[in-house]
Amino acid sequence: MLRNDLDAFWLPFTPNREFKANPRLFVAAKGMHYTTEDGRQVMDGTSGLWCCAAGHGRPEIAEAIGKAAIELDYAPAFQMAHPKAFELATRLAALAPGDLNHVFFTNSGSESVETALKIALAYHRARGDGARTRLIGRERGYNGVNFGGMSVGGMTANRKAYAAAMLPGVDHLRHTDGLPENLFTKGQPEHGAYLAEDLERLCTLHDPSTIAAVIVEPLAGSAGVLLPPKGYLQRLREICDKHGILLIFDEVITGYGRLGAPFAAQYFGVQPDIMTTAKAITNGIVPMGAVFASDKVHDAFMTGPEHVIELFHGYTFTANPVACAAALASLDIYKTEGLFERAAELAPYWQEAIHSLKGRRHVRDIRNLGLIGAVDLEPIAGSPTRRVMNVFRTAYAKGLLLRTTGDIVALCPPLIVQKSEIDWLIDTLGGVLDQTD
Ligand SMILES: Cc1ncc(COP(=O)(O)O)c(C=O)c1O
Repeated sequence: MLRNDLDAFWLPFTPNREFKANPRLFVAAKGMHYTTEDGRQVMDGTSGLWCCAAGHGRPEIAEAIGKAAIELDYAPAFQMAHPKAFELATRLAALAPGDLNHVFFTNSGSESVETALKIALAYHRARGDGARTRLIGRERGYNGVNFGGMSVGGMTANRKAYAAAMLPGVDHLRHTDGLPENLFTKGQPEHGAYLAEDLERLCTLHDPSTIAAVIVEPLAGSAGVLLPPKGYLQRLREICDKHGILLIFDEVITGYGRLGAPFAAQYFGVQPDIMTTAKAITNGIVPMGAVFASDKVHDAFMTGPEHVIELFHGYTFTANPVACAAALASLDIYKTEGLFERAAELAPYWQEAIHSLKGRRHVRDIRNLGLIGAVDLEPIAGSPTRRVMNVFRTAYAKGLLLRTTGDIVALCPPLIVQKSEIDWLIDTLGGVLDQTD
């Protein structure tokens, strides 16, 4: 491949010069595996980027996309619509917990977060409580890369270049990771529900009447799989209720079966007021996101004169017909193959498999829930992320795709994974750890 052929594409979240000196290219994918440019099979330990829950190369989705593109290639969503958008919203609302009955379509997780934050602010204004303008996020939260999500998020590297451009009036809860008493916990950690009291502290500091919403990932994926301690999310919900604050769950990773329930809200038994999703909504095949709003939130907008737009927000590609077709076909697969239930059934096996890496070289913590896992490595002193990137490269050479963040290996295989494939994945990772300095 000519050097010039690699120049134009500026890769996201990638060291471009290093990558282009030694590129990794996929040319095909089927089931659990990618095919590389040089014809090797690489097992997908990360569902793409937490997207491909039903595995790769699903003809049912491809056919639905093709059919939709021929039937109705594009329809504006401003003042117009098409039947599949309503069908999909209705199916999604039925899948969602409680009364999250209203769906606003976006094109990505980041757009879903911006949409949720804007709905939260506009909701309070619509109720005549427009002084509620503060947003509370969480340290090490990842809520996408746009200005709102970056501001409520808590990933230092993502924030530091934009310090002057952060949304005003944002504050953060502490994250829930790293309590010594929780290390190597299998499943949800016992300790740390008290961290939710940070929200009370911020209410005392700012006064609750200034706070519009709290946004958290029920389980934080991108920062390295940070689990909510038992009781933590319940306590957040209680504090929000006490003070009239909206609770937003960012379910861009946990949505669509990852924990063995449709959404993490159902898994944890905690009801948010707004929920953001994307990624696996179309099995990763077409960009799409969906924001769910409760009856209370939605209905607050439906009060003024009926000819006036209630929410000045939307995207050219909101409810794109091809994306809707991909999402409907994905939901069909999830249902007919029982993939959410499958994730729940496999979770104990996955848990034992990943925890078998305890005691291997460099491993300082292991975390898991549903079909998600993290192996947290001791960094090389003075050289953070170097060790985990070596693990990533060696694993890739051995035919295993991992995801890394900080010095953490994050794992989330497609929900179609077989037990024998889990065994191979964990054996391969163990071997890679052993041979990595
Ligand atoms: C919790 C969460 N929110 C938002 C996003 C952003 O999604 P996207 O990359 O589709 O914009 C991500 C991406 O990983 C995420 O994990």
